[in-house]
Amino acid sequence: MTPPVLPGEMVRLRPIEARDADRLWDSLHDPEGMRLTGTTTSFTREQIDEWTATVADRDGRFDWAITPGAVRDGELVSDELIGEIVLNEIDPVSRSANLRLQMLPDYRGRGYGREAIEHVLRFAFATAREDGGPRLHRVGLDVLTINPRAKALYASLGFVEEGRLRDVYRDGDTWSDAIVMSILEDEFREHQR
Ligand SMILES: CC(C)(COP(=O)(O)OP(=O)(O)OC[C@H]1O[C@@H](n2cnc3c(N)ncnc32)[C@H](O)[C@@H]1OP(=O)(O)O)[C@@H](O)C(=O)NCCC(=O)NCCS
Repeated sequence: MTPPVLPGEMVRLRPIEARDADRLWDSLHDPEGMRLTGTTTSFTREQIDEWTATVADRDGRFDWAITPGAVRDGELVSDELIGEIVLNEIDPVSRSANLRLQMLPDYRGRGYGREAIEHVLRFAFATAREDGGPRLHRVGLDVLTINPRAKALYASLGFVEEGRLRDVYRDGDTWSDAIVMSILEDEFREHQR
């Protein structure tokens, strides 16, 4: 589903497009990002080209490019992808979805990830009259225990720990647990006050 542009102060979210293929390809070859997200699948360049060109048309998900929000003389300084954020596995019956995101290595630890999640949750939980979002009730995710930065960030945004999946991801020669977390619509609204 084609996501709306979500403008912000530090970041601006826009739909993923074919021109994002180079940067997404690079992010798929970032060893730290792969390790921290438990990514083991490898993709061909053709698959990435096809994905970026068509993902906006796929059902059950919204994929955004995170781009800089900075404006100079009324114009965006850059519209290049610096990360991606995705609401997938959208189930309209339970009104739930999964969230995942990844910043490119040079753009981590600067507050961009936090702001991007806030924009997506605002859209995810918006009531129909507000902006035609998916009106979700629950947004969930799982985070590897080797990724304390991401886990702390989610907790500070109001995500609640639900449980632990033991040894569910490979980490080199060993394994990592994952913590299952979620935030419900009322918790998000309460957290925004
Ligand atoms: C996880 C990720 C998306 C977060 O985005 P980001 O822009 O780097 O995060 P932010 O700068 O907005 O915030 C990071 C927070 O974690 C805190 N933090 C940083 N390192 C930390 C650590 N080792 N332990 C605990 N907290 C840490 C920061 O202080 C900051 O908290 P604050 O907002 O209260 O100051 C990004 O780092 C990333 O892409 N990492 C690699 C891929 C990944 O891990 N994806 C998530 C998979 S679940």
